[in-house]
Amino acid sequence: MVINGAFSDNMYINWGSHHSWMQGNDLQLVLDQSSGSGVQSKGTYLFGSIEMQIKLVPGNSAGTVTAYYLSSTGDKHDEIDFEFLGNVSGQPYIIHTNIFTQGAGGREQQFYPWFDPTADYHNYTIHWNPNVVVWYVDDIAIRVFKNYRSQGIPYPNSQAMGVYSSLWNADSWATRGGLVKIDWTNAPFIAKYRNFAPRACPWDGPVSINQCAAQTPDNWYTAREYGQLSYTKQGQMDWVRKNYMIYDYCKDTKRFNGQFPGECFKPQF
Ligand SMILES: *[C@@H]1O[C@H](CO)[C@@H](O)[C@H](O)[C@H]1NC(C)=O
Repeated sequence: MVINGAFSDNMYINWGSHHSWMQGNDLQLVLDQSSGSGVQSKGTYLFGSIEMQIKLVPGNSAGTVTAYYLSSTGDKHDEIDFEFLGNVSGQPYIIHTNIFTQGAGGREQQFYPWFDPTADYHNYTIHWNPNVVVWYVDDIAIRVFKNYRSQGIPYPNSQAMGVYSSLWNADSWATRGGLVKIDWTNAPFIAKYRNFAPRACPWDGPVSINQCAAQTPDNWYTAREYGQLSYTKQGQMDWVRKNYMIYDYCKDTKRFNGQFPGECFKPQF
């Protein structure tokens, strides 16, 4: 199932509409001292490929965060995150990722981009199917979360999720615990978006899970080739994780005091 068309066919501005705009395939989110802004999808989805082209806030963006994520609702919610933490001019953004299952998160992994994410649009994709969640930056997989539900590790496969993006003031935590404050003389901060494409299984009410999970040609994302990464993609991911990964919760012995979450002991691809 491919859902295409203009931004406004698929999303609406849910915050800060006085200074953000959407036109054709373009969207701009703005943050100034009056407020940030955000969008959300009109529909919700269960599995598929959620693709967004984003050009992040340029220059001194320290304290700003651009979030792009999938989330269900309710207190046992599932959520799959990309967050882009701004930095002072000339210093790298941080690509922050996380996943919540049944209301529990705490699975952060962070990366430096290997390119300037403010110079041009880059494609950020969350590829989500019954077997695996893959975070892609352009064509490069940077992270995998596999379904080990049969071994007692919760996996997001029973709640539909909406797509959200927002640009907001996070200077109380994003800049190493609030060390650097937003420099408002640089406002307005603008993040640009293009070509939102949820190639995903729409969930408009009481659709059975099987309808989106069934291995049918319509549910292209369930094909075997999407169940795991190719050797080429694994190699690229190894390269990113070796050279650009700056935080991995599965390596944070101090935080977990040796009691790592179960998935940290499982192969992720
Ligand atoms: C900004 O850049 C500095 C220096 O490279 C780095 O230590 C820091 O983690 C970066 N990110 C943020 C959000 O400050």
